[in-house]
Amino acid sequence: MKHSLAILLVSLFLIGTSCKTGVTVQSEEGSRAEKMLAQMTLDEKIGQMSQLDIGYFRDPEQLKNAVREGRCGSLLNFIGAEQVNAIQKIAVEESRLGIPLIIGRDVIHGYRTVFPIPLGMAASWNPEAVKKAYRIAATEASSQGIKWTFAPMIDITWDPRWGRIAEGCGEDPYLASAMAAAMVKGIQGDSLTDPTSLAACAKHYVGYGFTEGGRDYNTTYITEPVLRNVVLKPFKAAKDAGVLTFMSAFNDLNGVPTSANEFTLKQILRNEWKFDGFVVSDWGSVVELISHGYAVDERDAAAKAINAGVDMEMASTSYFDNIKILLEENKITQAQIDEAVLNILTVKYRLGLFDNPYINTEAEKILLDPAFLEHSRTVARESAVLLKNDSKTLPLKTEISSVAVIGPLADAPRDQLGTWCFDGRPENSVTPLKAIRELLGEKKVNYVSGLRYSRDKSTAQFNAAIAAAKKSDAIIFFAGEEWILSGEGQSRAEIDIPGVQSELLAELAKTGKPLITVIMAGRPLAIGEELGISDAVLYAWHGGTMAGPALADLIFGKESPSGKLPVTFVKGPGQIPYYYYHNNTGRPATTQSWTHIDSISVENPQSSLGYKSFWLDYGYTPLLPFGFGLSYTTFEYSDLSLSAVSMNKTGSITVKATVANTGEMDGVEVVQLYVRDRVGSITRPVKELKGFRRINILRGETAVVEFTIDAADLAFFNGKETLTEAGQFDVWVGTNSDEGLHGEFIVE
Ligand code: NOJ
Repeated sequence: MKHSLAILLVSLFLIGTSCKTGVTVQSEEGSRAEKMLAQMTLDEKIGQMSQLDIGYFRDPEQLKNAVREGRCGSLLNFIGAEQVNAIQKIAVEESRLGIPLIIGRDVIHGYRTVFPIPLGMAASWNPEAVKKAYRIAATEASSQGIKWTFAPMIDITWDPRWGRIAEGCGEDPYLASAMAAAMVKGIQGDSLTDPTSLAACAKHYVGYGFTEGGRDYNTTYITEPVLRNVVLKPFKAAKDAGVLTFMSAFNDLNGVPTSANEFTLKQILRNEWKFDGFVVSDWGSVVELISHGYAVDERDAAAKAINAGVDMEMASTSYFDNIKILLEENKITQAQIDEAVLNILTVKYRLGLFDNPYINTEAEKILLDPAFLEHSRTVARESAVLLKNDSKTLPLKTEISSVAVIGPLADAPRDQLGTWCFDGRPENSVTPLKAIRELLGEKKVNYVSGLRYSRDKSTAQFNAAIAAAKKSDAIIFFAGEEWILSGEGQSRAEIDIPGVQSELLAELAKTGKPLITVIMAGRPLAIGEELGISDAVLYAWHGGTMAGPALADLIFGKESPSGKLPVTFVKGPGQIPYYYYHNNTGRPATTQSWTHIDSISVENPQSSLGYKSFWLDYGYTPLLPFGFGLSYTTFEYSDLSLSAVSMNKTGSITVKATVANTGEMDGVEVVQLYVRDRVGSITRPVKELKGFRRINILRGETAVVEFTIDAADLAFFNGKETLTEAGQFDVWVGTNSDEGLHGEFIVE
């Protein structure tokens, strides 16, 4: 009794005080971690800083010994409730201090119930639905012993060539921040100690999506204003949502690899943001400092990563092999080691791992729960974006007498799961073909895949596909990319629809039958021609386990599409990078000032093209703007009003607009708010998203949508400081980044 009172008093004393390492211990978990740290040997501390992949171990005995001896604090890719319990038992009962392991795995867009790729989820503009998707993913993953996942991936990118665009939330910092917060909250749940809560990991910190040329792992150069105003925004949102861990990235940033970058890891993450979780490296990114030409050998690499504040090394063993000698050589300090271990232990305490280290082996029965599948279907439906719908081609009536279902993605159960999906199973996928057959009955569906897979260049099935189209009332062509064409290490220089899919589509168009193209891909493809020859186009990304029923719901009008593009769609790779919040330039082009390459006469004088900022062949606009997406119904915007014409730097203004559903169906509209800061101390974007609302408006009804703009929302980093500047602002409320009702206000 006396003893526990003493512990309580010590704990209370430690809360809110500084420990000897200089880290401020602010929580009960922190003080428990501090006490544990005081008992640890250097070897045990090094063990906590090491995460090993299961493939590292030659045999189970080697693994058990490593855990028993406290040589690794975390395992990667070791799953299964019983297995995890068995190895955890060794950690808890047979290691000297009984420190539990934390088991990590990538659960990027669902575990067994797979949701659309994150880029698709971002297209739903529905953070609540996304949060629920990640809650489901965490619930399923936790039943397998996973306690930490390397999600959310929140790298902003302007480059659809980059394969990992699929894993992120697109180009916009505001939308990506909303998604980042939702994902973290979904993964970590309401209480960190809940058995279904996992630690989330904000990755890849930072700038990885700005990889030169869209080639994965490539160098990045990002100015500090772009870093702070764009790239860091979703990471800050994840931090504010309570994310427990960050992952340092593979890329070098302005000459310094991000896994050894003191500016981003120490200055920004720890000093400015006060992040108190821990940082894990990406897979081998510590030893890759050598290939970057930033470290001479593994010892040097370990020193540089530790000095920058990477607490745990993933997969490689440079920490394990070198920390002792680095301490002897005074290349790192004991305080740095203690701080890293304290960060890691505090997270383990916060997750309740010490008090409740084991998995309920019954929990895995919830995999693929019908409610989970239903939500996967909902999110897949909400993520699909209607890009074209001439002559109300869609929705089709279920009474239609026959449809031709054609294309390599119509019945591709693995492809629809998308990239970076280890635990989803193709046999659980419901494909579009299956869903349409179920809805209409087998007899009404004339199916010919036409191509065996997306890159197939054989025209052998073209005639059969054309024949199927001719005998049907409408054609639904499922085009796109196989899952393997996007994701890590899977960048493309061309971003067209691969193989001879477009050729087949052109043949089908010649039949004159209503042609509906559904694109299932891991990136925004350059689809100008396909968009031109199709009557209707639905962009469905890789939609996950329930992509088929979700698409059937939309195609046959059970619901109207409501997704909006989370990235600008370019006309071709020559327009990359293109993002809607670009600066204006000194010579912005206009419709009048653009000269098309084919209209230039041979005798043209030097100055006649006007010297404006455009491409002779592409013009100056993209194929489709950020935020674009149609519905089966129509929405009309009117009555924009502002609560004031000006505000001071601590004030706010309310913006209202009326949105009427003027079409023939109920529908959801994503109402978007953009602003422009007309003149700044550095040049400012032509538009920036500052708010959005997803609202359901019944047919014939009207909604008044209200946004509040705080002056603080207009702040930006100008190279020296972050501030809201006085001056004139434009505001738009509209259906995408290119259209909207316009107003103005002043910040004084
Ligand atoms: C490398 C990837 O970049 C990262 O996103 C992932 O979490 C790790 N491998 C672990 O699989």
